[in-house]
Amino acid sequence: MFFTDRFILTPGPTEIPSRVRRALLRETSNPDLDPSFLEVYNRVRDMLKKLIGARTSSLYVIPGEAILGLEAAIANIVKPSSKVVVIANGVYGEGFGDFVKSYGGIPIYVGNGEWRKSVDLYELDRVLEKNRDVVAVTLVHCDTPSALLNDLSGVAKVVKEHGPLLIVDAVSSIGGVPIDFDGNGIDVMIGGSQKVLNVPAGLTVIAISKAAWDKIDEVKYHGYYLNLRLWRDMLDDQGIFPYTMSDVLIYALEESLNMIFEEGLEAVFKRHEIAKKASWNALEAMNLEPYPIAIEYSSPTVTAFIVPNNINEEKLRDITWRKYGVMIAGSWGRLKGKVLRIGHMGVQASRTHLLIAYTVLAKALRDLGLNTNIGRVVEAIEETYK
Ligand SMILES: Cc1ncc(COP(=O)(O)O)c(C=O)c1O
Repeated sequence: MFFTDRFILTPGPTEIPSRVRRALLRETSNPDLDPSFLEVYNRVRDMLKKLIGARTSSLYVIPGEAILGLEAAIANIVKPSSKVVVIANGVYGEGFGDFVKSYGGIPIYVGNGEWRKSVDLYELDRVLEKNRDVVAVTLVHCDTPSALLNDLSGVAKVVKEHGPLLIVDAVSSIGGVPIDFDGNGIDVMIGGSQKVLNVPAGLTVIAISKAAWDKIDEVKYHGYYLNLRLWRDMLDDQGIFPYTMSDVLIYALEESLNMIFEEGLEAVFKRHEIAKKASWNALEAMNLEPYPIAIEYSSPTVTAFIVPNNINEEKLRDITWRKYGVMIAGSWGRLKGKVLRIGHMGVQASRTHLLIAYTVLAKALRDLGLNTNIGRVVEAIEETYK
């Protein structure tokens, strides 16, 4: 298969645009010693702060997967016996509870019975009312395996009324959905490079509020690699990285952020919203059922739908990729085999990408015996973009 014949339409890792690929080829130096690298790194931090609406908090880009950022957040905030409310209405939502347990904390799960809509704010309020000694609440903004979008502002409002810290996994929303870190009063936000930002996997972004720092200084986590105090004490105070950075990944992230700001934040968020609407319209044209029960619970960055009866999703994905060159994704955990997903993250959130994604899906479903009307799929997408 030629490069131009293939389309990566999975919800991360995503397609890397040519400008970002070129940045990966930039001349390298020694990032620990080259003062111009620190300038680029700080520029990237400033752009990320602008992207998430964080004016006064700290923000670091750390080498390692987004999982590293999630674990670092818990490791630095949760002590043995600390209670944490875990909003568990998705694969990653539930997964936060495992991190809490592995650092000796006690997870209190909320929303684990209903994965197809945003967490019930009354339930969250009741649980926080009953457990006044909770140190933090964890929330996954977009739970990628189900494409669920949680009501970040609603959750933040309830959490702020009770006082614990709010830790938000924004790995698959950062860059495609507004976060408003300061406005929502978020305390820790974790992002990743390989989703909407269209950079290869290998970087995690972590933003930390003043209130979160007070807790981190009290907990005094003793490990090294996940220790957030090192980033503050070494990088902020002395301009030294705690360990060697991947300069090319930072150059790639810089270029991705340049592209976002050239287009304009409002326009970028709007483009993702339209991609979601076009996706839902395309699903409707094929009589496919989205996984979230309503469009307001569906992320602008990924669409998930239920595998139709009598269709083997692995076989379907094999056809879309090997026969038509379009890679789409299945799902994980309790959704494995039951849900399929199409990513519209960053450059994927375009009319052309969606036309390719959904016409190929319709064709592959036809190949497996389902009576899909490809013309109606095209019309549904074109209608959305009118
Ligand atoms: C919501 C969410 N959080 C965290 C992660 C973990 O990211 P990574 O695989 O980069 O460690 C993912 C990856 O799919 C994700 O979708």
